[in-house]
Amino acid sequence: MSRSAHPAGPRHADVLPDGHYSAPPADLNALDPKVWAQTVARDADGVVTVGGLAVTRLAEEYGTPAYVLDEADFRARARAWRTAFGSDADVFYAGKAFLSRAVVRWLDEEGLNLDVCSGGELATALSAGMPADRIAFHGNNKSPEEIERAVRAGVGRIVLDSFQEIVRVAHIAQSLGQRQRVQIRITVGVEAHTHEFIATAHEDQKFGIPLAGGQAAEAVRRALQLDGLELIGIHSHIGSQIFDMSGFEVAAHRVVGLLKDIRDEHGVELPEIDLGGGLGIAYTSDDDPREPHEIAKALTEIVTRECEGARLRTPRISVEPGRAIVGPTAFTLYEVGTVKPLDGLRTYVSVDGGMSDNIRTALYDAEYSVALVSRASDAEPVLARVVGKHCESGDIVVKDAFLPGDLAPGDLIAVPATGAYCRSMASNYNHVLRPPVVAVRDGEARVIVRRETEEDLLRLDVG
Ligand code: LLP
Repeated sequence: MSRSAHPAGPRHADVLPDGHYSAPPADLNALDPKVWAQTVARDADGVVTVGGLAVTRLAEEYGTPAYVLDEADFRARARAWRTAFGSDADVFYAGKAFLSRAVVRWLDEEGLNLDVCSGGELATALSAGMPADRIAFHGNNKSPEEIERAVRAGVGRIVLDSFQEIVRVAHIAQSLGQRQRVQIRITVGVEAHTHEFIATAHEDQKFGIPLAGGQAAEAVRRALQLDGLELIGIHSHIGSQIFDMSGFEVAAHRVVGLLKDIRDEHGVELPEIDLGGGLGIAYTSDDDPREPHEIAKALTEIVTRECEGARLRTPRISVEPGRAIVGPTAFTLYEVGTVKPLDGLRTYVSVDGGMSDNIRTALYDAEYSVALVSRASDAEPVLARVVGKHCESGDIVVKDAFLPGDLAPGDLIAVPATGAYCRSMASNYNHVLRPPVVAVRDGEARVIVRRETEEDLLRLDVG
C-alpha cells in the first residue's frame, strides 16, 4: 500500500499511527485484476465468483478459511511461461511455492518441468507421475538418503550446492553404477530484492559456491574429474520478488564469464545455464510485475549478447519461477469474527485463520490486499488491520487496508495473491488446523489438499 504525507486535512480513518496515511481506493468493491486470479469477478448481487462459483457457496461447502485456487489461471500462467521461453529453453516450476499432486499433473500436462528441494517434494512429484528426467533437485543440505533416492529415480539434474555435495553425489551415483547429470549453483555477488539489487560480498549466505576467489572455478575443476558426474551447466538464483531485470543482467554476465573461463581452461562448453526464479508478482495495486514474454525476451537477449561477446555457443537457458506462476492464482477466503474499532487508530478485523495460514506478513512484513467478497458495500471505508485468531499480537494477515465500515461478523473477506508460500509455509501453531486448497474450474470445485482435522493432529501425538 502506498503511503505519503496527507496533502490536505487528514480524515482520522486514513491516518496511520506512524503519521502517514494511505488513501482508500476510489471503489472498495472493485477487484484489481493485477492482484486477483483471472476468473475472479463480482456478480450482479455483489458476490465475488471464481471459476463461475460464488465464494458464499464455496464457504458453505468447504468451510473457511480456505485457499481457493483458480485452475484455469494456473494453467494459463504455466502455459504463458512455457510459450514465452519456447522449445529452446526449459521452465522448471519451483515446487516450494506450492506443491500438490494435482499441481504436478497440471505442470506435466502444460509441458513444464519441476524443481524440488526436499525428499518430500520429490516424493510428491514422483507419486503424481512427473517423469523423473524433468525434475531438478535442489537444496543446500540434501541428505545422503535424499540424494540416493533422486539418483535411483533418475532425476534430470541435481543442483550441487557445495564442495562436499560434489563428492557426495559423485560417490552415490558411482556406487549405483550411474552418471548423474548435475549443475553447480554459484553465488555471483548479486543480491536482488524488490525494486532494487544490491551488490554484496554475498559469500555470507548458506546457498551456493562463491564465484569470488576462484571457488566456483575450483568446483567445476573437481566436478569435471569425477566419473559419477556429468556437469551440464551452471546455476544462479539471485533472490525473490524481483521486478528489476538488472540483477539478472549482472548474474548472466558473471555466469557467462565463468563459462568462458571453463572453455579456456578445459576446452569444454557447458550446454546449460539456469538463471533461477524470483520474478515478482502484484500483491497490491502498487506492484507492476513483468509479463513472462517480456522476461523471456530480456533474459534470452542478455545471455545471447553475453555469449556473443565471449564467443561461446549460446547455452540452453532454464528458469525456475514459483511465485510468478502460482502466487496470483489463489486467494484465502476467511470469515470475519470479531470486529474491534479503535477510534482514531484503526479497526481490527479478526478472521478464522491467521499467521498459521499466512506467515509472510509476520515474517517478511509482506503487504497484501483484502476485499469484502460475500457482498458489495457502499459504506464509508475504514482503515483496517486484518488479524488472525492466534495467541500472538504479531498475528497479522493484512497490516493496513481499507474495508467497508459496515463490515460485520459473518461476512466473508478474501486476501488475494496467496497462492505462493502460504499453504507451503503453513503451520499448526496453537493447534490450528491447516486450511484446504480448493481448486475451481469451469463452474466446478474440488479439494486438492483437504482440510486438516483434529484426528490428523492427534495421529502424530503418540502419547
Ligand atoms: N529457484 C531456486 C533455487 C530458489 O531458491 C527459489 C526460491 C526459486 C527458484 C523460486 O523462487 P520464486 O520464483 O518463487 O520467487 N518464502 C519466501 C520465498 C523463498 C524463496 C526461496 N527460493 C516468500 O514467501 O517470499
